[in-house]
Amino acid sequence: MQLIDGKSLSNKVQISISKEVEKLKQQRNIVPGLAVIIVGNDPASHAYVSMKEKACKKVGFYSITHKMPEGITQDEIIEIIKMMNNNPHIHGILVQLPLPKHIDTDTILEVIDPKKDVDGFHAYNIGRMVTNLDSFVSCTPLGVMKMFEEYNIDLEGKDVVVVGASNIVGKPMAMLLLNANATVTITHIYTKDLSKYTKEADIVIVGVGRPNLITADMIKDGAIVIDIGINRLEDGSLVGDVDFENVAPKCSYITPVPGGVGPMTIAMLLSNTLKSAKQFGENI
Ligand code: GUN
Repeated sequence: MQLIDGKSLSNKVQISISKEVEKLKQQRNIVPGLAVIIVGNDPASHAYVSMKEKACKKVGFYSITHKMPEGITQDEIIEIIKMMNNNPHIHGILVQLPLPKHIDTDTILEVIDPKKDVDGFHAYNIGRMVTNLDSFVSCTPLGVMKMFEEYNIDLEGKDVVVVGASNIVGKPMAMLLLNANATVTITHIYTKDLSKYTKEADIVIVGVGRPNLITADMIKDGAIVIDIGINRLEDGSLVGDVDFENVAPKCSYITPVPGGVGPMTIAMLLSNTLKSAKQFGENI
């Protein structure tokens, strides 16, 4: 069994981004800029945003965070996004999800300029990704693909089961795998017999937010298991969706939690923001 070390791969990606930022500054006088909008007081969301801010600083990006009160109106959020769309120092705009219930998330995400949509949540980018055209791709699935590349895991013809069908993770993950010529099955909360699918899979990718959802009896010998789940237990510890202790010995490769997919998500956000900054001013 080999661990897929997301933390060290994330560091490696960030070092290479820092070098590219230096070049971009020297050659074109461009500093990649990321704007983050966060609404309300959810502690987990604030923790994620502060990690994103720190990562931006580390690689030499400009970043601003708009912290908005829970009671802000939808129109006020739209105004801020429009300001960021028109700000030439900002190349990436990220609205931290989830938003409060009185805000319509789909409406908000569609206001972001697709060329600054570094989260890859805008329908324009999703459509381009599905048709295998160049686009911004949702950071978590993109981070998983980067892991496969780094560990020379060939996806062509592999049977891959994705557990979870969210717009942010499961659906884009499945599309990227399909574009890489894998045979993809998407399972979700209404799937009748999850283990029927996972037992046959060469690769299982799970991101639903339920500790111990994937147990050893659900995985075939030598399978690859990617755990996207992040769950905080009552004792304060962080675990994924996989019963790591019992599943790991059966696997050829597995990602740990923490230190697996999580750090890759941030690395891909930086990578997407750099990509946007490089494209800045180009007629695309
Ligand atoms: N909330 C949980 N994950 C994400 C993410 O990747 N991007 C944004 N914007 N919000 C999130």
